[in-house]
Amino acid sequence: MNKLFLILSITIISLSCNEQTKNKKNDLDPKMEQIIFHSAKSYFTPLKEVDFDKLTPEKKQMIELGKRLFYDKRLSNKQNLNCASCHDMKKYGTDNLPVSPGDNNQFGTRNTPSVLNAHLQYAQFWDTRARTVEEQASGPIFGDFEMNMPDTATLLNRLQDDEYYSKAFAELFPKSDTSLTIKTITFAIGAFERTLITPAPIDDYLNGDLNAISTKAKLGIKAFVDNGCIPCHSTSTVGGQMAQKFALYGYYWDYTNSQYIDKGKFLATQDPSDKFVFKVPQLRNVEKTSPYFHDGSVKTLRDAIIIMGKAETNITLKDEDVDNILEFFKTLTGKIPKHAYEN
Ligand code: HEC
Ligand code: HEC
Repeated sequence: MNKLFLILSITIISLSCNEQTKNKKNDLDPKMEQIIFHSAKSYFTPLKEVDFDKLTPEKKQMIELGKRLFYDKRLSNKQNLNCASCHDMKKYGTDNLPVSPGDNNQFGTRNTPSVLNAHLQYAQFWDTRARTVEEQASGPIFGDFEMNMPDTATLLNRLQDDEYYSKAFAELFPKSDTSLTIKTITFAIGAFERTLITPAPIDDYLNGDLNAISTKAKLGIKAFVDNGCIPCHSTSTVGGQMAQKFALYGYYWDYTNSQYIDKGKFLATQDPSDKFVFKVPQLRNVEKTSPYFHDGSVKTLRDAIIIMGKAETNITLKDEDVDNILEFFKTLTGKIPKHAYEN
């Protein structure tokens, strides 16, 4: 017994020594380690998970109601699509298609962004036309290219007949004349979306665990900073906090080979200075949300990184920097909360 224990301990010690020497080889010198850690801390902030134990029963009921609506196909005209048809949790809140088919198999021109962490952005949609997730949620329900509902009355009639809904809406919004409305529906969906937070290795790192990410990923943070990505991509969502012209150098379609030229925010505002302006997307889980850009025109993350260098910072990135930025991006891939999935 003792002998076995001794052998086991020796094996473990020698294994961990191997691990240490292996790490040492790639390790940054302590000064560089600190420089990168401090710059990461000044540009990015860690995500905070929702603590369900601390929520009131009403709040929990609201989230559950929002979740039911998110997964309910009655929200689409032909009753064949729910929000998750395009925002699939198994695909990190997207569908991994360039553009998504609507309820009548019709196609829009814009790529489906993720619903994960979306509420942490300053605005919703590629052209920022909705501010909050609540304001956003009625868009797809009535959008011609999405769920295509003809009008509010049709939607409310469908939901009124459902026992769970009539009870939940009446309890959560007690004023009977305003209990089931577009406003209360989108409020509940928003409450659910606000719980879709995906903490990742980068958050452990930002919280002080220097071993949470690899040396290559740390060098990726350095490359991301040194190559001028930070002014547009920072905070807890590594983006999603402003809109910018794509491209600042040249025309975006020369980089992406896009067939359709989308004028971006200009279509919503008619302001000439908004031509080709798009929301800077958040980069949480970006490794998993291919294809990239507002029209899903670029398949690989590597290509998207190279294009960004040329289009937004006028730099041809070194291969090594691209590799390291890719490693950094992988540390943004988080845990999808269990309650996000359909029951
Ligand atoms: C047919 C596919 C489809 C369906 C169904 C759909 N969406 Fe979307 N969603 C999209 C597309 C495409 C966009 C981007 C449109 C744009 O920017 O103009 C989007 C954008 C969003 C955004 C903004 C994210 C961001 O980063 O800007 C949120 C949030 C969202 N959808 C939530 C929902 C909810 C909630 C539902 C159900 C009520 C829903 N979606 C149904 C395709 C879909
Ligand atoms: C001037 C602002 C700006 C700078 C600087 C910038 N970006 Fe972006 N980034 C954007 C905008 C705007 C988009 C969306 C463009 C579009 O799809 O129309 C974007 C999109 C991306 C995407 C695609 C994400 C997705 O989900 O489609 C990646 C990846 C990315 N940027 C990485 C980088 C990297 C790496 C750098 C530094 C080399 C960088 N960005 C510098 C504004 C910027």
